Amino acid sequence: MSEELRYFLNEVKANIEQQLPSHIEKLAAPSILKEAMIYSLNAGGKRIRPALLFATLKSFGKPMEEGYEVACAIEMIHTYSLIHDDLPAMDNDDLRRGKPTNHKVFGEAMAILAGDALFTYSFELIANMQGVNLSSEKKLLLVQEIAKASGPEGMVGGQVADMKGENQALSIEELMYIHEHKTGDLLSASIISGAIIAGATTNDLANLKLFAKELGLMFQIKDDILDVEGDMELIGKPIGSDNGNNKSTYPNLLGLEGAKSMLNEHKDKAKKFLANVNMEQQLLLALTNYVADRDH
Ligand code: IPE
Ligand code: IPE
Ligand code: MG
Ligand code: MG
Ligand code: MG
Repeated sequence: MSEELRYFLNEVKANIEQQLPSHIEKLAAPSILKEAMIYSLNAGGKRIRPALLFATLKSFGKPMEEGYEVACAIEMIHTYSLIHDDLPAMDNDDLRRGKPTNHKVFGEAMAILAGDALFTYSFELIANMQGVNLSSEKKLLLVQEIAKASGPEGMVGGQVADMKGENQALSIEELMYIHEHKTGDLLSASIISGAIIAGATTNDLANLKLFAKELGLMFQIKDDILDVEGDMELIGKPIGSDNGNNKSTYPNLLGLEGAKSMLNEHKDKAKKFLANVNMEQQLLLALTNYVADRDH
């Protein structure tokens, strides 16, 4: 990883980790609920979605501050999806971000409710956004983009297809559908949100969407690879969870080497689409390489 990217990722992490709990602490809500929400928000994580949003803003020459609330909202949605994904009724995992999963600490009912609360509050946060001078029209566009990416046509739909695909041999196309929606859509929404805030042109938005779709696929292919050959200490979640749940994954369908060459194919495509966007491309290019090369 380049020094520049390391510096940027550290800056994003410090920033977002300072803001996330402060949004929850001030809520007039039951303290056990706030505790459960903050537990998972504070558990760490790469903060790649905020990083993509901020990188897009910076690449269009805008300050990161303009994306603070939206980045927090997206990270809250992502954290909710992880809490629910780990539940016994779903992947049944005990370790997340190097700590016991939310339901292991707070019980299943509270974990479900903490997830619900993070999901709904994220949209309240965007609607109430202060400080940044964003038009109501842009706020509405952001809500539309992020809600679609996380709802039935996005992440939730992808998670359903993932669950229904257990114990079945899926085709590559079916697996791509799962990856695109359960993971790709919210990553993509992070980039598109940055572009909406920055006021990108329709043409740049279209090319960024093509880029982001490839990046999203890359991210989940790598997640599947790490589930096989990653280091539990580094990834902070159990190894072999997918095989334990009889999931179709790229390594299962194509073998580890096949999955790695598929990852490379999507990386090349991502770079090709990014080259068509009228922006300073260095940072998103570095993040693209990072998504493929990451060890956690
Ligand atoms: C894990 O996401 C779940 C997927 C969508 C693949 P991340 O790999 O971004 O998890 P954290 O936020 O770094 O813990
Ligand atoms: C989960 O995919 C994607 C979402 C949480 C929406 P995985 O089930 O592969 O994620 P991990 O490996 O548990 O992080
Ligand atoms: Mg899952
Ligand atoms: Mg899982
Ligand atoms: Mg996984």
